[in-house]
Amino acid sequence: RPPTSQMEEVAILKGSDCRAKGAAPGFKVAVLGASGGIGQPLSLLMKMNPLVSVLHLYDVVNTPGVTADISHMNTGAVVRGFLGQSQLESALTGMDLVIIPAGIPRKPGMTRDDLFNINAGIVRTLCEGIAKCCPNVIVNVISNPVNSTVPIAAEVFKKAGTYDPKRLLGVTTLDVVRANTFVGEVLGLDPRDVNVPVVGGHAGVTILPLLSQVNPPCSFTSEEISYLTSRIQNGGTEVVEAKAGAGSATLSMAYAAAKFADACLRGLRGDAGIVECSYIASQVTELPFFASKVRLGRSGVEEVLPLGPLNEFERAGLEKAKGELAESIHKGVAFANK
Ligand code: NAD
Ligand code: LMR
Repeated sequence: RPPTSQMEEVAILKGSDCRAKGAAPGFKVAVLGASGGIGQPLSLLMKMNPLVSVLHLYDVVNTPGVTADISHMNTGAVVRGFLGQSQLESALTGMDLVIIPAGIPRKPGMTRDDLFNINAGIVRTLCEGIAKCCPNVIVNVISNPVNSTVPIAAEVFKKAGTYDPKRLLGVTTLDVVRANTFVGEVLGLDPRDVNVPVVGGHAGVTILPLLSQVNPPCSFTSEEISYLTSRIQNGGTEVVEAKAGAGSATLSMAYAAAKFADACLRGLRGDAGIVECSYIASQVTELPFFASKVRLGRSGVEEVLPLGPLNEFERAGLEKAKGELAESIHKGVAFANK
């Protein structure tokens, strides 16, 4: 029997062979922050994804244990662990998709922007590694404050000369997941049958659910609109308070991140009609970054879809969202360029 390292190589070759022939593809995915509250369940879900042939787990702590544990799952992906800055380059080399949930989470009383001072530097360092080792990769940014960390990533890539706005995506899927759940509850529908576009950004009033565009088409009372908008905008805080100091959403976030990563991989594979909301470089408003529906494809974001008709309530929400977003974007850009 071949030793493990040889078996790994066989599996890797199998994955890339398949991809080259356009048959069952095998993509190489890295999770940065893989030992964390999101990172662990997200890594587990990516190990279960049949589109993944190689899974790299990187963190500054505990990756040997997480990797040993996840590698025993009898699914196709080969798992490798990488520990600490000295192994970042090996973790990144050859990847197709990099998912970043590295960084500290909120405690009660904090805003996402309160995480900026620590997480901005973490995201910058990781993106410098990406620019060097896998400049053509698709990047999914989860680390908060997403409204600023995505602009930071963009600036790092611009400086390195590797920036492609189509391949940098802020993960706002949890807002859509929550919106679908809460709207499903109000309408008495299975949440899997509900689709609520959530646009803007990923913090407080910048999270703008478009309840006038819910699919299947439906109508709400003004009380329902006010309840749903507030619950969707404060979903993260609801979890932070319930966890009472033990962190923020991890399990629902891992689910949302795995769902979004799967959509990115299906896009890379060439599947048609993959549409998700994401915080990306955008011309939908006058702001340089904005979350809206995007069509994903082989090159990442292939089309940014228009916002569609907004009602008066949503137009007012959009103005509020834009004010806060502009500040968060400016803060990220200034940090990356100082
Ligand atoms: P956590 O503290 O449980 O895990 C974070 C992990 O990041 C830890 O394992 C830590 O060791 C690791 N880490 C720290 N510095 C690192 C570095 N330089 N390189 C690699 N890894 C590093 O936190 P969590 O609950 O998993 O949350 C992670 C981040 O995701 C937070 O910023 C949180 O606010 C954010 N988040 C975003 C969303 C979203 O919708 N986008 C949802 C939930 C949480
Ligand atoms: C969320 O929406 O759950 C995350 O952004 C984490 C947080 O701090 O709320």
